[in-house]
Amino acid sequence: MALLKVIDRDGKEHDVEARSGLKVMETLRELDYGISAICGGMCSCATCHIYIDPAWAAKIPAPMSDERELLLELAHFKEGSRLSCQIDMTDALDGLRVTIAPDE
Ligand code: FES
Repeated sequence: MALLKVIDRDGKEHDVEARSGLKVMETLRELDYGISAICGGMCSCATCHIYIDPAWAAKIPAPMSDERELLLELAHFKEGSRLSCQIDMTDALDGLRVTIAPDE
């Protein structure tokens, strides 16, 4: 288990236990204030959009081209934008802080 700090759409921060080896999306979609992840992680819906805290950005592998292309189409795209279904939770990311992006 690793700690995931999640800021919801109301700006409230929550400490959540995330299982290493799962996608970050798989933890977020279980939360009442989480994400819908409609496509189930196929990198096609963007309903798993989050912002990575700048302090953690360098610790996460860069997005592949399909994720990057989808992100660039989003109205709420900004620096730190990522699709949480494309990010593996690992013990090295213990304490990762993310913000759930607004609905598109
Ligand atoms: S769950 Fe659909 S793009 Fe991530």
